[in-house]
Amino acid sequence: MNSDSFYGRDLAYVHDQAFGHLARAGGETLLRLLGRQGFDSGLVVELGSGSGITAQLVTEHGYDLFGVEVSPDLVEIAQTRAPQASFINASLLDAELPQCVAVTAIGECFNYAFDERAGDEALGVIFQRVFEALEPGGLFLFDIAEPGRERSGPRRDWSEGPDWTLCLEASEDHDLRTLDRRITVFRQVDGGFRRSDELHHLRLYEVQDVLHGLEAAGFEARRLGAYGSAVHFGRGHSGFLATRRR
Ligand SMILES: C[S@@+](CC[C@H](N)C(=O)[O-])C[C@H]1O[C@@H](n2cnc3c(N)ncnc32)[C@H](O)[C@@H]1O
Repeated sequence: MNSDSFYGRDLAYVHDQAFGHLARAGGETLLRLLGRQGFDSGLVVELGSGSGITAQLVTEHGYDLFGVEVSPDLVEIAQTRAPQASFINASLLDAELPQCVAVTAIGECFNYAFDERAGDEALGVIFQRVFEALEPGGLFLFDIAEPGRERSGPRRDWSEGPDWTLCLEASEDHDLRTLDRRITVFRQVDGGFRRSDELHHLRLYEVQDVLHGLEAAGFEARRLGAYGSAVHFGRGHSGFLATRRR
C-alpha cells in the first residue's frame, strides 16, 4: 500500500465530514481528565491526528497541540481546521515525542499496519516512549481494535453524505489476528463521481496484552468502556487510560 491509497484525498474528506464522533468524544474526555489531574494548559501530543477535530477542541480550550499523522491529505485538512496546532506528516512510530501533559491516539491508530512495523513489539516501544515524554501526572488516552471486532464474519456496509457514498467490506482473520477493511468512496466532483479504493490492514491486540504492556512501561492503566457519554465502545473495541504517577 502506498500513501496515495491510505486516507487519500477522498477518504480524508469523508472522514472529516462524517466520522468525527470518536475524535470529538475522545477530545472532550481528555479535557475532563486533564482538569481532574489539575492541568489547564500545556502540550498535548496527538498520534494519528486525522483531520484535526480533536486538535481544534483541545487548542480552543487553552492547550497547545502537536499532531503526528501519516496521511498528507488529512494533515492538510487539519491545518485549516486547527490553525493554532502544529502537525507533522510522519509515522507515529518514528516521530520524536516532546515533553507533554498528555498523549492521545484516538480511532484505532495503533492497529493500522500501513506502517509495516506495527505490531505487539512496536506497541511496547511506543508505550515506553510515551511514558518518557509525559510529565508526572500526565495522561495517555487511546483506543484499540481487538480480536472479535468483526466476529460475525465478513460485513458489508455503506454510508452517504450530500456529495459522497462510502462502501465498506470488513473481514477478520481470527488466527492471524488481523482485520482488513476494503473501502470504496464515490465523491461528486466536476459533475461526475470520482471513485477511490483503499485497503486498510489492521493488526488486532488483546486487551490483556495492552494492559501488561502499559504496566511494563511504568504506567498505572485501566480499560475504558466509553469516551464519556457520547461513545460507548462496542464489541472488539476498547479504550485505555494510562497515567504516569507523580
Ligand atoms: C480512524 S482514523 C482516526 C483519526 C482521528 N484520530 C480521529 O479520531 O478522527 C486513524 C488515523 O490513524 C492514522 N495512522 C494510522 N497509522 C499511522 C501511523 N503509523 N502514523 C501516523 N498516523 C497513523 C491514520 O492516517 C488516521 O488518521
